[in-house]
Amino acid sequence: MTELAIVRMGHPVLMRPADPVTDPTAPEVARLIDDMRDALTASGGVGLAAPQVAAGLRVVLYSVPEGRGAPVPLTALVNPTLDPLGEERVVDWEACLSLPGLTGAVPRWRRVRLTATLPDGTALEREAEDFHARVLQHEIDHLDGIVYPMRMDDLSTFGFVDEIKARFAEGA
Ligand code: NI
Repeated sequence: MTELAIVRMGHPVLMRPADPVTDPTAPEVARLIDDMRDALTASGGVGLAAPQVAAGLRVVLYSVPEGRGAPVPLTALVNPTLDPLGEERVVDWEACLSLPGLTGAVPRWRRVRLTATLPDGTALEREAEDFHARVLQHEIDHLDGIVYPMRMDDLSTFGFVDEIKARFAEGA
């Protein structure tokens, strides 16, 4: 089992659209998902997209931990797409394994509909809101060459986690 390195913002594979997966049940897709699971578990993150391990394919892994809404166990999605439900957008803090040590406030749709294929080939459709919807938007953006600072509308909230925490704790 190889542990894949996570590439950082600026790497070309993170900045271009990923390719659709032709056969979600192919052994090489299962292998990629296994390797991504190892990398995600080792990093302690809640989500990981294939381009972050330098694989230009439309695959993401994500979970919703306890305390962030209804929990979702670690789930692999192949060729996922999202549609916003309603017009409501929410601004909240995000971080990314490809931008270590950084954080920023990002506007996202509050509710979305997810359509995807599971690694066993079955179709998945679910609605998500709040943190769950945010994680999906963040991860699926990676498949389109978008990292979260590109979604920010106030770059004054972008910075290193310790600095930002200290500043916003002071209410500045
Ligand atoms: Ni990310």
